Amino acid sequence: MESFIKAVDFFKGNKPEDIVAKYGTPVYVYNEDILRDRMRKVSKIITKYEFHSNYSIKANTNINILKIALSEGLYADAMSVGEMRILLDAGFPAEKIFFVSNNVSAEEMQFAIDHEIMVSIDSLSQLEQFGEINKGGKCAVRINPGVGAGHHEKVVTAGKKTKFAIAEEDIDRIFDIAAKYDLTIAGINQHVGSLFMDPEPFLAAVKNFLRIAMKFKDLEFIDFGGGYGIPYHKLDDEKDFPMESFKKDFELLIDDFVKEYGYAPLFKTEPGRFVVAESCILLGRVHSTKQNSGVKYVGTDIGMNVLVRPSMYDSWHDIEFIRGNEIVARENMEEQTVTGNICESGDLLARNRMLPVAQKGDLAAVLDAGAYGYAMCSTYNSRPRPAEVLVTSDGELKCIRRAETYEDLMRLFEV
Ligand code: LLP
Repeated sequence: MESFIKAVDFFKGNKPEDIVAKYGTPVYVYNEDILRDRMRKVSKIITKYEFHSNYSIKANTNINILKIALSEGLYADAMSVGEMRILLDAGFPAEKIFFVSNNVSAEEMQFAIDHEIMVSIDSLSQLEQFGEINKGGKCAVRINPGVGAGHHEKVVTAGKKTKFAIAEEDIDRIFDIAAKYDLTIAGINQHVGSLFMDPEPFLAAVKNFLRIAMKFKDLEFIDFGGGYGIPYHKLDDEKDFPMESFKKDFELLIDDFVKEYGYAPLFKTEPGRFVVAESCILLGRVHSTKQNSGVKYVGTDIGMNVLVRPSMYDSWHDIEFIRGNEIVARENMEEQTVTGNICESGDLLARNRMLPVAQKGDLAAVLDAGAYGYAMCSTYNSRPRPAEVLVTSDGELKCIRRAETYEDLMRLFEV
């Protein structure tokens, strides 16, 4: 694809230079049409059975995006009291929220219990804790299906090398603890990891998970977790996640399970990245170009404080350059290393990448920045976090989070 920005008319007639004149650089820009499209897609991953798609809000917690998710009929999963509170403030009713907890305090569990939010319990000791504070209560347990998947070992959350979930061999202990505190295990959940483009490992985990589910009686729901990938190499024509064929294979596995189990509990999934990643472009300014020991550096204001994924996981994000509101054509390409403005050598957006030759004053447009972009921003090097702007379906620009200021950075100091 020559240009994603042109192919989807991402800015809907708004000029990129006008956007940055108003909101500064860097700035996260979202496209409402793409957001709604992906939200509709995840609502239909399973259609044959009762099914809820829980948007995993850790990927992007902007309250305006949550309101759009609610309007599209999505449910949500939360990882912390903060995420539960944002969801409640966005208007999600408690029954649409699932608290997928990990190593949480009794107080955090109590928050969910007080608000009648279903909690997923991640270890036997946490199940004891839940029983102690909520005798006779109801919860879900997170089970390790024994198979993991993901783009980096840091995001694989099942299999042998992970802190998450309860192992299959401990299931009898779950029943012992449940009996001790008179708990109902209403559901089971898994999450194998983040970003798979090949459905096979996920389907293998689903199969195993459903075999394990047979050990639980009277389940109200089974939650398969998230992890659906998006094409981060779209400029090189990477294909989308094969949702159609995946859906068929997924439903076939569920058919087999339902026959044996005797009825169909509610099925759920927890996509984060798939919902928001492609709806966002991060715009920054090229402030310098230089050559060091034969390497051509393009110096931007998109540091690892703004988008940490490339530095943290060596993640790939496609980059387009914009010069005077025009996309720079993908010709006259040269190997360049695109960096930010943070005081670390690892502050790299793209290493030795073939890109059109960048010039000082260009805008760098980093694609697919909507998931784990702003959500993982920091104020490292005392740089305030950027604004987030939505290009609405009507083509209006709407600020959905203002940029932080120096005063915001100073606010918490006790002096
Ligand atoms: N459910 C659970 C329990 C999770 O832990 C996660 C993500 C999700 C659902 C959503 O996964 P998704 O559909 O977004 O892949 N910061 C990393 C990703 C970490 C994912 C953590 N858990 C990244 O930037 O790639």
